[in-house]
Amino acid sequence: MRKFIIAGNWKMNFDVIESLTFVKELTSKLAAVDINNTDIVIAPTFTALYPVSDSLKNEGNKTISVGSQNIFWEKSGAYTGEISADMLISSGVEYTIIGHSERRQYFGETNETINNRIKASFENSLKPIFCIGETLEERESGNEKSVVSKQIKEGLLNFSAKDLENLVIAYEPVWAIGTGKTATPEQAEEMHSYIRSIISEMYGSEFAEALRIQYGGSLNLKNAQNLLSKPNIDGGLIGGASLKAIDFSEIIKIASSIKK
Ligand code: PGA
Repeated sequence: MRKFIIAGNWKMNFDVIESLTFVKELTSKLAAVDINNTDIVIAPTFTALYPVSDSLKNEGNKTISVGSQNIFWEKSGAYTGEISADMLISSGVEYTIIGHSERRQYFGETNETINNRIKASFENSLKPIFCIGETLEERESGNEKSVVSKQIKEGLLNFSAKDLENLVIAYEPVWAIGTGKTATPEQAEEMHSYIRSIISEMYGSEFAEALRIQYGGSLNLKNAQNLLSKPNIDGGLIGGASLKAIDFSEIIKIASSIKK
């Protein structure tokens, strides 16, 4: 069975001190909880990556992993504002979010640059969380599946199943991100099952069955149970609700209590 993966995408929120305070709160809320079958990831801003992973290490915490919100594909050099896989690894990073819709929308990410970033992640043994999803306009014109299919095929172009053994896909309909407008569990399930079918065509059914597909877009305490209970939804990539330790820890507990 697939293990749930609940990831908090903090976006551009929390400075170093706030990040450390959050981590203390989260670990204390989860201390007495038996986390079953659920991986937990938090993705702070770059400046907080090392302090957060160091603090988790010092606490002896093995249940929470650290993720970055981006990665660049070159090793080093004149690339102002970018960050390499080695730099992330030396900051204690294990997962890396790639191709988030805000990166596509505001920072010119394309399926091609996303492909390069995914390559840099698996070549350096970082685990990519590859984000895909359609805009409202694309959904309303009935093109959501073709958009998602193109994002997958171009984002994963030329990679083998072996390259992608640590891949996680996050389906995040753009119209649901930060809007409070969640996809219904049925809408999300339909797309997740479609994504799994494309992956099955590309890499075979065994690979597709093992692949974890997260839902993202206004996932919160109220809708977590219904979304996460769907057969093809294997976790969440959570923005707003991941900024409150109480909500985030409760969502983790919900995931951990679901048996499929
Ligand atoms: P949201 O963000 O939960 O605030 O909608 C999700 C995301 O962008 O990953």
